[in-house]
Amino acid sequence: MSHARQVSITSKLTRMNMLVCATALSLACLGFLSYDLATYRQVTLDNLSIQSQVTGSNSVSALVFDDPVSAQRTLSSLEFAPNILSACIYTPDGKPFATYRRSPNISIPAKLAISPGEKERHWYNHENIFLVHAISFQGKPAGFTYVQSNIQPLIDRVENYLAIAGVMLILSLSLALFLSRIARRSIAEPIQRLANVARRVSKDKEYSTRAEPGREEGELAELVGTFNEMLAQIETRDRSLEAAREKLEEHVEQRTAELSAANKELEAFSYSVSHDLRAPLRSIEGFSLALAEDYDDKLDGEAKSHLSRIRAATTRMGVLIDDLLNLARVTRAELHREPINLSSIASSIAEDLRKANPERQIEFCVQERLETVGDGRLLRVVLENLLGNAWKYTSKHAWARIQFAKKRLNDEEAYFVTDDGAGFDPAFAGRLFGAFQRLHGMDEFPGTGVGLATVQRIIHRHGGRVWAEGAVEKGATFYFTL
Ligand SMILES: Nc1ncnc2c1ncn2[C@@H]1O[C@H](COP(=O)(O)OP(=O)(O)OP(=O)(O)O)[C@@H](O)[C@H]1O
Ligand SMILES: [Mg+2]
Repeated sequence: MSHARQVSITSKLTRMNMLVCATALSLACLGFLSYDLATYRQVTLDNLSIQSQVTGSNSVSALVFDDPVSAQRTLSSLEFAPNILSACIYTPDGKPFATYRRSPNISIPAKLAISPGEKERHWYNHENIFLVHAISFQGKPAGFTYVQSNIQPLIDRVENYLAIAGVMLILSLSLALFLSRIARRSIAEPIQRLANVARRVSKDKEYSTRAEPGREEGELAELVGTFNEMLAQIETRDRSLEAAREKLEEHVEQRTAELSAANKELEAFSYSVSHDLRAPLRSIEGFSLALAEDYDDKLDGEAKSHLSRIRAATTRMGVLIDDLLNLARVTRAELHREPINLSSIASSIAEDLRKANPERQIEFCVQERLETVGDGRLLRVVLENLLGNAWKYTSKHAWARIQFAKKRLNDEEAYFVTDDGAGFDPAFAGRLFGAFQRLHGMDEFPGTGVGLATVQRIIHRHGGRVWAEGAVEKGATFYFTL
């Protein structure tokens, strides 16, 4: 494409030059030729007219005195006019009186008439011109002369003209070709040079390249200058963009480092808090057990009820601390990526759930061969939570269906666990993933509310997203990507 353009600019210049030159020359030649021919023809005609007038006047007396021999003699003098092929003197009634032929095969009209009052008449055929001129004596018609002249000189002249014009045309076209070479050097070449640089810049994205200013002046020099200026602007913009990007990267790095330090600190803090809470809790647990066992006979009904509440609350707190420790562990544990089969993990979890509550009527559908790469231990925790929730939140229904599969959403592949259980108010879908956030009461469905928070952390650590859809009593679906 670009090569075609290069070729066309030079060849266009050449073609234009040649065309202008040829047109101008042809027009000039045509003008000269027509003018010259018209003039030449008029001169020939005038000469012929004079010759026939002279012949006519010299033959008047011969006509009047009926002396054809003398007329014949007059006509013979036409021998010295090489263009005259034949001539004839006619009597007033149109009969030949005396004739002259340059060669014997030339024919002369046997009868010729001239209308009364007409002085002269001429006509042409393709190689001759004919002229008839009236002869009068004392105001009365005495006859007329007829002259035939060939127009070969005219034809020769045209031919010479055309030959000269042809030679001139060839000469000027060669000159034009030569001149267009010079034009190419001064116009097309700088443009081609510029096009080459532009192509190189657009291919290599190397904006420090510049077009070499040549010897050209005017618009071409301006074009090269402006092009270089544009490159300079792009280069400056590029540099400042690069600098801004570097600065931004630095910022992001710094912020990330700060954030991860704060995060680590927080995790360490929550881990040690949960850990440290265990010791006093164990002591409360131990002493309340001792109180219940050792003082069973001394405590009345109300005291015993208080004590059992204390013990239930302690157990629950123990579970909470365990969950918190697990959550902290999930974040601290290192990720071991390996190829895993999510289908078989889900099936084994379903098996465990079934064993724990064999009386429940649950249809489990697990899509086969859902293979991916990730931390097998952590992704098992994810599926345990999601399938466990599905199991738990369908428990109020006599029959339920739970499915684990994968589907394409927009431009990503998402895994999902769906059930047709209690569901939730979709307005709170975003809150589910916060630690200790629960949408159902303890008496309705037991739990601590850390399950989904754990799921979210694990998915985030895998670089994925997790979100939920659901409606009250219409079931819930939890999607995640990896
Ligand atoms: N499959 C589900 N159907 C309906 N609601 C659900 C479902 N899964 C989770 N939820 C809602 O989201 C809340 C948070 O779930 P999450 O798993 O974090 O806590 P939990 O199940 O209550 O307790 P645990 O920490 O023992 O898992 C639940 O209390 C419940 O209200
Ligand atoms: Mg749960």
